[in-house]
Amino acid sequence: MLKTGLIGWRGMVGSVLIERMLSENNFRLIHPYFFSTSQAGSPNPLDISDRQPLMDAFDLSCLRGMDVIISCQGSGYTKQVYPELRGLGWAGYWIDAASALRSNNDAIIVLDPINRSVIDGGLESGIKNFIGGNCTVSLMLMGLGGLFKEDLVEWASSMTYQAASGAGSNNMRELITQMGRLEGSVSDLLNDPKSSILEIDRLTRECVASDTFPMTEWNQPLAGNLLPWIDSEVGNGQSREEYKNQAETNKILGRCNNPIALDGLCVRVGAMRSHSQAVTLKLRQDVPLDDVHVILANTSVWTRVVQNKKDASLAELTPAAVSGTLQVAVGRLRKMNMGGQYLSAFTVGDQLLWGAAEPLRRILEIIIEFES
Ligand code: HSE
Repeated sequence: MLKTGLIGWRGMVGSVLIERMLSENNFRLIHPYFFSTSQAGSPNPLDISDRQPLMDAFDLSCLRGMDVIISCQGSGYTKQVYPELRGLGWAGYWIDAASALRSNNDAIIVLDPINRSVIDGGLESGIKNFIGGNCTVSLMLMGLGGLFKEDLVEWASSMTYQAASGAGSNNMRELITQMGRLEGSVSDLLNDPKSSILEIDRLTRECVASDTFPMTEWNQPLAGNLLPWIDSEVGNGQSREEYKNQAETNKILGRCNNPIALDGLCVRVGAMRSHSQAVTLKLRQDVPLDDVHVILANTSVWTRVVQNKKDASLAELTPAAVSGTLQVAVGRLRKMNMGGQYLSAFTVGDQLLWGAAEPLRRILEIIIEFES
């Protein structure tokens, strides 16, 4: 069994990964070693057989003994430890949720329902670095990947509605705290049906503007608001999140030399853990809508096509409907006024599952199968 070191398994993405590995019985297939960046030597709190005290995530001699390392610890850890480990000649598999290694030529971005052939080719050619993709990109492809696999997309533009979870667990806490603070500022008036809505609105604006409104994470309110910029500036007017759309989609698809143009605008909204995006696609030909439905339904067993009807869209095509599930919903499918090659779509999926942990869990299974 492959000796598999886990790092960052107590954070949000790491915890989701462990939950998924437990429910898929993955720990029976590996010999797990649990590392910690801060609590080496402490007992392992997980109910998993062969538990050893936590190992030191900075101890290169321990890390060198691993066949596989899975890190959900973040790019800072990867940048510090990975080069030193490879420098020592370590030739194991490095699986990572962080973006640090994603654009490297010797790394593959993993999303196996979409790019299994790229992954298999990489394994055969000796690639050892398998990195989870940007959540927005992965979720877009889990919804719309069928059209890309059939090479039907000339270009696509996505307008995103990204959940707080993409920014981290503290941001999710802050969003709920902000919501609670807003409600608390006007609860008396809310309980009085005769109260003025404009007075309620004024008081909530005052609440947001006050010095005590909780906003240490984004430095901006998200509750009752939205934030039209995600991640840093890359210098050409795009945010880094927007830049990743074209770069990572084409890398996942293995077509960096023949890229599809992708762009858009990324926006943070007050959803908890599911990212949504409205996508305009220019298709290479006027594909009948019924065929589009079939192609999209065949994207993956987790892709769920929702009929473009009001009731179905409101019930099935929302963060509330998909959060906590592996289903990625795609709907609002229709041809646009611009012509038969222009397709409108909306897709939504759980940012922590297919957006982060699940591709990592599945590449571990694929590596185990390859090595056996
Ligand atoms: N960058 C994403 C976001 C999450 O901020 O929502 C990570 O893929």
